[in-house]
Amino acid sequence: MGEIYIGVMSGTSLDGIDVVIIEFSDKDENDENIKRINVKQSYSHSMPIDIKKDVLSMCQGQKTTLSEVGDLNRRLGIVYAEAINEAIKLSSIDPNSILAIGCHGQTVWHQPPTKTKTTTTTIITDSQKNDGFTIQLGDCNRIATLTGITTIGDFRNRDISYGGQGAPLTPSFHKYSLSSSKETRIILNIGGISNITLLPSNNIIPVTGFDTGPGNILLDSWIQLKMNGKPYDKDGEWANQGKINELLLKSLYDYSSSFLNKLPPKSTGRELFNIQWLLNVIESIKDNEKVRDEDVQATLLEFTCRTIVDEIIRIKNCKIDRVLVCGGGCKNKLIMNRLSTLLKDYDDSCKVSTTDEFGINSQDMEAIAFAWFAKRTLNHQTSNLISVTGASKETILGAIYLKNNFEN
Ligand SMILES: Nc1ncnc2c1ncn2[C@@H]1O[C@H](COP(=O)(O)OP(=O)(O)O)[C@@H](O)[C@H]1O
Ligand SMILES: [Mg+2]
Repeated sequence: MGEIYIGVMSGTSLDGIDVVIIEFSDKDENDENIKRINVKQSYSHSMPIDIKKDVLSMCQGQKTTLSEVGDLNRRLGIVYAEAINEAIKLSSIDPNSILAIGCHGQTVWHQPPTKTKTTTTTIITDSQKNDGFTIQLGDCNRIATLTGITTIGDFRNRDISYGGQGAPLTPSFHKYSLSSSKETRIILNIGGISNITLLPSNNIIPVTGFDTGPGNILLDSWIQLKMNGKPYDKDGEWANQGKINELLLKSLYDYSSSFLNKLPPKSTGRELFNIQWLLNVIESIKDNEKVRDEDVQATLLEFTCRTIVDEIIRIKNCKIDRVLVCGGGCKNKLIMNRLSTLLKDYDDSCKVSTTDEFGINSQDMEAIAFAWFAKRTLNHQTSNLISVTGASKETILGAIYLKNNFEN
């Protein structure tokens, strides 16, 4: 039997808490054909409305007090533990056989260092001078206590302390699970924010990865504002009723140019792409009353797909054979169709599908990655890729909250 770990992810979309229980069997890491990741249980727990509301107000820069931060940290820790215990119950796995939980936590603020390397040769190594930090809430003490399982959290700040972006972290897992010596692949995760990982077929070109901009975040924000109670635009049905407004599309680009024009490494979040930002962009265009709500949605979908493909086109040093999509966005048929069209226009031979076809459930990808990071950390192995985050060193990530012996 392999080693059992739990991974927990709740992303910027705030749609839910994804929990996976994984058995890893690393018999032969070099054999691409051996299935090393066995998903024993996959469970999604809905995010309580009050927590969602408080996270949203905190991460959009509203004034908040330390006691509110502490209380949200506590409540999130409890709800993560509930989700984990429910997944364990469903799986009938003995909790004592689970080595550790890797819990990403809920990001409420992400501020990567402003001075990072601009080429692969200049690296900011001075940990004292970089001004980056990131905050993920969800008290791991509570999780360890309420589950009786060693819990690992705060995965991003160690990379930032070495001058990295602290994000994206998943490329090292993509490399482990989906790289191929036969073709160059891109793994595209469309969560609230979108990020890509380039997995070259050879070892000469390094693995790279970065945030491309919005994923579902703007589409979700707009429908939530305009259609009270609808959490997201199922299959892009509403967007499909609208027409792309070129003026708005241009403004969306203009208002995010500082991020979009930046060269990797780069990462972003709700600090930039939020509903207030979107309302400002709409306000900025002439005759904005004439733009119907469904036209805004159609334009947001176009903006989302184009900013992803813009970055893929920017990759000049290798030919992309396949794009594998994961995250909630790949359930949106209109997004998938538009992405395929844009990618085919660029390179007719490029294949597009979801990661499901390659053995990793597209909805579980990030949670599985955090189970894998927990395993790496417990084994004192590094998990960040410096070619991705821009950190000066590969480092062990996270803080370990050990279970108590009496909880055995
Ligand atoms: N059937 C669907 N149609 C359109 N969008 C969907 C569908 N299913 C999921 N989504 C989108 O996926 C989002 C969740 O994606 P997820 O990968 O969990 O993001 P995050 O990592 O930010 O939590 C939802 O908020 C929604 O926008
Ligand atoms: Mg989610």
